Amino acid sequence: MIDSHQDPLDQLMAHLSTTEDATALAARSTMLTPRFYTTDFKAMDRLDVSPVRAEWDTMMAEYESDTNHDHFKRDDLFAEELRTLMPQLSPELRQEFLDFLISSCTSEFSGCILYNEIRKNVSNPDIKQLMAYMARDESRHAGFINQSLKDFNLGIDLGNLKKVKAYTYFKPKYIFYATYLSEKIGYARYITIFRQLQRHPDKRFHPIFRWFERWCNDEFRHGESFALIMRAQPELLRGANKLWIRFFILAVYATMFVRDHTRPLLHEAMGLESTTYDYEVFRITSDICRQVFPVEIDIDNPVFRRGLESLLQTSLAADRARARGGMVGRLQLAGCAVRAAFTFGRLFLQPVIRHELPSEIRMQPVW
Ligand SMILES: [Fe+2]
Ligand SMILES: [Fe+2]
Repeated sequence: MIDSHQDPLDQLMAHLSTTEDATALAARSTMLTPRFYTTDFKAMDRLDVSPVRAEWDTMMAEYESDTNHDHFKRDDLFAEELRTLMPQLSPELRQEFLDFLISSCTSEFSGCILYNEIRKNVSNPDIKQLMAYMARDESRHAGFINQSLKDFNLGIDLGNLKKVKAYTYFKPKYIFYATYLSEKIGYARYITIFRQLQRHPDKRFHPIFRWFERWCNDEFRHGESFALIMRAQPELLRGANKLWIRFFILAVYATMFVRDHTRPLLHEAMGLESTTYDYEVFRITSDICRQVFPVEIDIDNPVFRRGLESLLQTSLAADRARARGGMVGRLQLAGCAVRAAFTFGRLFLQPVIRHELPSEIRMQPVW
């Protein structure tokens, strides 16, 4: 029987046994789950990348050469590792790992849908070509993770997910800030895990982690594409837009911090600790973002650190209030919303680190 006082997400996770359950979990839209986006295609069609033409053409040649075309295939060792490693997973770790796979697959697929919709709706050859390449990559990524979900009989019905999940409209500049950050943070997350497991192969509890190195180079390049698009429109990186940049960096970091702390066992199994892992990811992401963002969040500021911890505690209190339900639960939930908004506001008002943007935009994935 399903306990009506439990958080619906916990219920869904605890009873995850079919592909319908996995699809329902992926379809949920909350503050912490990956979203699907749509945008203004006409404005996308008008983008002009000529101010960054030379770097753009080099990047397009990299997409064209498609060095990862043979990467997303399983080798013989994959099946062997699955056979020996999966029976060793504790039920709790299995649950966190499945949650990780489902949210990763959803976010890869979210990119695939957005890039593909833009490709279909524009005639601008630069943008159309770029979106085709990125949709190609994301579809491989989503498919590869979904194969691992299918090993647990929990493959997501991606066709159905595309139809049932809610779409959030973002105008192009918000798509650029948010997607750039999510690609670069995706790179930083995958490479941090890969390097850790390279140092400690005994902690690699699933073969999929061996794929992360070449995989994250795709994400890095997707981020490069948005960096060039933004640098081609310098007004997006000036004046009041710097406040939007600050907002998006904070929102992305805070969401990741709260979400990752719901999966402590996953990080522990890899010999990582959620807070240390997150700060390593923030550090890499902040280093990379200097190619395009003139402002940077000071992640070493004690107010920032205390603020993230407070957002995490508020999110946990909100879960408890939701589970409690009724009038008291609703009041507590409203209290949590006010506290979270206040904390976020305080973080937003902290001083930022400012930079001149480098004349050479492109970077190499050297982490
Ligand atoms: Fe991806
Ligand atoms: Fe990507």
